Amino acid sequence: MTPRPTDPTRRASELRETLERASYEYYVLDRPTMSDAEYDRLFRELQEIEREHPALRTPDSPTVRVGAEPATALAKHTHLLPMLSLGNAFDDDELREWEERMVRILGEQARRAGYTAELKIDGAAVALTYVDGVLVTGATRGNGTVGEEVTANLRTVRDVPLRLHGDGHPSRLEVRGEVYMPFSRFERMNEERARDGEALFSNPRNAAAGALRQLDPSITAARPLRFYGYSVVTAPGASLPVRTQWEALELLESWGVPVAPHRRRCATLDEVTAWAHEVEHTLRSELDFAIDGGVVKVDPLALQDELGVVGGREPRWAVARKFAPDIAVTRLLAIETNVGRTGAINPYAVLEPVEIGGATVKLATLHNFDLIRQKDLRAGDWVQVKRAGDVIPQVIAPLTERREEGTEPTPVPDRCPSCGTPVARDPEEVALYCPNVACPGRRLEGLVHFASRSAMDVRGLSYARIGQMVEAGLVRTPVDVYDLTVEQLMRLDRFAERSAQNLVDAIEASKAQPLSRLLFGLGVRHVGATAAQLLAREYGSLAVLRERLLATGDGDEARAASHDAAVAAVAGIRGLGETIARSMVDYVNDPSAIELLDGLERRGVALVEPRGAASSDTLRGSTVVITGTLPTLSRTEATELVESAGGRVTSSVSRKTTFVVAGEEAGGKLDRARELGVPVLDEAALSSVVAGTATLEAALEAVQLPADP
Ligand code: IVH
Repeated sequence: MTPRPTDPTRRASELRETLERASYEYYVLDRPTMSDAEYDRLFRELQEIEREHPALRTPDSPTVRVGAEPATALAKHTHLLPMLSLGNAFDDDELREWEERMVRILGEQARRAGYTAELKIDGAAVALTYVDGVLVTGATRGNGTVGEEVTANLRTVRDVPLRLHGDGHPSRLEVRGEVYMPFSRFERMNEERARDGEALFSNPRNAAAGALRQLDPSITAARPLRFYGYSVVTAPGASLPVRTQWEALELLESWGVPVAPHRRRCATLDEVTAWAHEVEHTLRSELDFAIDGGVVKVDPLALQDELGVVGGREPRWAVARKFAPDIAVTRLLAIETNVGRTGAINPYAVLEPVEIGGATVKLATLHNFDLIRQKDLRAGDWVQVKRAGDVIPQVIAPLTERREEGTEPTPVPDRCPSCGTPVARDPEEVALYCPNVACPGRRLEGLVHFASRSAMDVRGLSYARIGQMVEAGLVRTPVDVYDLTVEQLMRLDRFAERSAQNLVDAIEASKAQPLSRLLFGLGVRHVGATAAQLLAREYGSLAVLRERLLATGDGDEARAASHDAAVAAVAGIRGLGETIARSMVDYVNDPSAIELLDGLERRGVALVEPRGAASSDTLRGSTVVITGTLPTLSRTEATELVESAGGRVTSSVSRKTTFVVAGEEAGGKLDRARELGVPVLDEAALSSVVAGTATLEAALEAVQLPADP
């Protein structure tokens, strides 16, 4: 063993350099030179030195990639220059039209200037600020002018250089690029999450965008993010030793910044077109990351300046060459169903495995049986399958001309796939459902929901473990969960004394959860997180709620009248309607629910809503319109979020709209908002307002900054 030099300053600097070089070789060059064990050993040595000598800590030390403290809110960050967006060219003709527009401005020289063609990475855009070569700030794109500061999160991205290689960098510069999650890592992460009973991410882009915006960097660190840089921006006045976009990418690479593969320097637009076809039809399926097209840029920077920017947002000198959505044709082997916790029976397609956009697809959602009938999908059909951005693929339609003899129209099931009970159909909904509350399939899903993070949040009670316990006959209902003992668990596979004890402790701790979580966790039909909060806030405790909702009186008629009165009272609570009210009152009066609630009470579950546990009131009186695809929230979740803060969500934009929340590919509603001067917020701003970390006034003010510098 080499003796440790006594000078800690020198040793720390040596370790930093060695460790960052190893990271670079591993993550950027994909050529590991150091074993994991050796890396860990040196890393710990550096941590030790920094602990003993806090003065030796530096912002470019590999140790800053882990362990930063959680923040309470994300600060705003103004970009050095606005982060632009791109116009689209959907085919070769549109690409030509783009060139023609440049020719009209620059004359024929535009055709001879040359292009750099790059992959358009489908992730989240970020800007990294380096001062004297050291990463000091990282921010999301935000609205292009102002983003959110997520430095600690970006430092956890393994291939983001903490210090640029080489020297002589302009003293302040911004490296721009895309944070993404490789398909392989994404799929592994989702498998792990499924095993732990956690919600799955629908695609790598949402997963990456969500990970970046975490308040706690250790959560970001646990998500497998990567980075590709595509441009470098300096403060006005400073200059870089490059004349073209191609050279700018080379410069980035020489600084140790990863740059996406398969870029090409093209002399003419024909070469660009050929490149785009090659990427779309050949290379794309080999990539381990999502792209949604290519980006074509006029190569000489001087010409870029001359061409300028349209409307302060889209450069004339660059265009996104979009690809057709990912569609494949394969055989529909079978249509199967599963039953969810509320009893909904969901059909899905079992497909002959097929490769779409770099991933193997074996299953696809079929939504409901009405759709199957409309499309006349049959087992044995050849079908078109689409994987548009989302990882959950969809069956578009059968190729009826290829249908072989002997296929049969798909029957609508008349019995639950899990328990065989005849199915019911809600007149107002297309879904079929199993009405049997004791159905084992429903029970399993129900228990998973009960233990999930947004309900009772029992750490360690994963899908797999619940499945094991149900199978062993240990649990049927949530009450049984509270009777589990360490000894019982230790008899199950994959439980040791320690893990069994941890689980029992986590179950015990969940007894203190507020009533709103319990109500949500019970999985009452139509009662989502928001309705549960409203109910819990209204009644304060389960005892009061049950007393008010229990139908009483002598005889059926009196009891029915009392039942209706209870429904009317609940429906009168702001934010709740007749459907939710009836479902909740029915539930409280159901004999098996009564037994369950009594059981929970006897086991010491708290069943009260502490004041302030429910969410805020920050959007009271606001009318909100949601449009486009938000980076992390689904439409339902965003609606619930607005409603939980007392706001109302409507579908069309008018002068009365308080603000619009817009995500990607927002269309007419966004235009209408701009026309009427209605403020537009992004998901991040909405979240900070609801969480109370920003006032509505401040959020509105921030987005009303002029878009152009
Ligand atoms: S250049 C000059 N190059 O696409 C225009 N953007 O609509 C600024 N993107 O969110 C972007 N890969 O983050 C450029 N090679 C690439 C890109 C790229 C992905 C993203 C970018 C932005 C969006 C632009």
